[in-house]
Amino acid sequence: MATTEIKFEEQMEREAYAGVVRFYELAKKQEWQVRDLPWGEIPPIPETKGAAQKVARRRDMWRSVITQQLQADELACEMSSQLLNIAPDHEAKLYYSTMVQDESRHTEAWLKLATEAGGTGERDPYLDQLAHMTLEADTLEEKVFQMQVFYERLIISRFRLIARSSRGTVLEDLCNRLTTDDGIHHGAGMAYERVLLQGASKKTKQSLVDAANRLLPTFVKHALWRPKERAFIGRAMLNRDTERLKEDLAIGVRLAQSLGLDVSDVELPA
Ligand SMILES: [Fe+2]
Ligand SMILES: [Fe+2]
Repeated sequence: MATTEIKFEEQMEREAYAGVVRFYELAKKQEWQVRDLPWGEIPPIPETKGAAQKVARRRDMWRSVITQQLQADELACEMSSQLLNIAPDHEAKLYYSTMVQDESRHTEAWLKLATEAGGTGERDPYLDQLAHMTLEADTLEEKVFQMQVFYERLIISRFRLIARSSRGTVLEDLCNRLTTDDGIHHGAGMAYERVLLQGASKKTKQSLVDAANRLLPTFVKHALWRPKERAFIGRAMLNRDTERLKEDLAIGVRLAQSLGLDVSDVELPA
């Protein structure tokens, strides 16, 4: 092959990474600091008026919301640094260097907010299990799919929901920032997964779908799990949670389809 031809092929290959590079640049531009949050100017979490018992119960509930997000971001630190270490492509490494910083900053913010709200609560055991399944997944394609294509897409609607019910607080401000950050994480993951799947064998694609099937039962348990502080809401919200779970799974299937994956044997839990 002539040198010019090789150069042309190399260039075409690098152009496939243009999307990933765009998200790298966007991430650099959007970077913020934990000190930028309105600490001390507005309440950390919504304030409740009324009987002492009611006030304490609401406080416990908000503490448990913060704990779940702190746990998720601690795990996101592990997953993003694994991606930074194993991704073979220069452009992807550049991008992941920003995602590691984002997830660390998110963790720092949740830790500070937890202190302001009076401490943390119970960890979700199923979220730990899910994160370990992703950390131990066989291929990079599986890891990027689970972490960035699926989880980081779903978390955005959770942040919007929390922000809506915590107006005028540091918690709302933080959730708004995380909506933007995880929008970038998800977008970058979609762009990189497209490049990865372009060159992937049928076997790699099939094992990605198989891994998703293995993950689903634990995902369902995670979606319906409530710590004891929110058990009273859990019972009242079971129908809503089940509806939301169905929507989340449908989004996952649509995302997989948009990446050209064959989802015909995805077994959605009844
Ligand atoms: Fe995060
Ligand atoms: Fe993220």
